[in-house]
Amino acid sequence: MRIDIISIAPSLLESPFNHSIIQRAKDKGLAKIIIHNLREYGLGNYKQIDDTQFGGGAGMVMMIEPIANCIKKLKSERVYDEIIYMTPDAKILNQQTANTLSLKKNILILTGHYKGVDQRVRDLYITKEISIGDYVLTGGELAAAVLIDAVVRLIPGVIGDEQSALTDSFQDNLLSPPVYTRPSEFEGIGVPEVLLTGNFPKIDDWRTEQAFKRTKEIRPDLLDKTS
Ligand code: 6GU
Repeated sequence: MRIDIISIAPSLLESPFNHSIIQRAKDKGLAKIIIHNLREYGLGNYKQIDDTQFGGGAGMVMMIEPIANCIKKLKSERVYDEIIYMTPDAKILNQQTANTLSLKKNILILTGHYKGVDQRVRDLYITKEISIGDYVLTGGELAAAVLIDAVVRLIPGVIGDEQSALTDSFQDNLLSPPVYTRPSEFEGIGVPEVLLTGNFPKIDDWRTEQAFKRTKEIRPDLLDKTS
């Protein structure tokens, strides 16, 4: 998978992709992440990328020309399966969206700042808009990092234990059950007996039961979802 990101703060994106799983995915050639500095497409001597909004009001708006020039250049080089705009006024990212995106070949992500981008950018170029939750960040970079982490770990071969990604919380709209490892007793506190029995059907049943119990307590809204 190739992921291109258009950003006005590229340095915010360097560290998240140079660690652990994402780094491994890049090393194995399973994911390629390329960051484009929107400032390089800015207008005039000052490389302008934003302006005041028509109709008045506080806050700057990201102009269409620099973004259009950058997107047009990238689109002339390859076909993108999705052009995603990271913005708080969008549908919220979930596991289903991450699963779907992990099967794509080329993804382009635009990160917003200030009051956001000129609406015409969204109308003309964007195929999908994603928020990561009901709160506001200073820019879309950290949100893009969250999206990319959620997607890249699902690419086949990225996680060593293939089973692992499939049994994550949310893959079946359930939170994960509790997990334990050695020692079997710590300061007088043991672990659930069933886990030590070696009776795997029984262990599976216990885990499912615990997953439902946790979900009901913490995220009952998930139990209402059908897919
Ligand atoms: Cl995608 N961007 C910004 N700026 N804030 C957010 C967000 C995105 N998702 C949640 N909050």
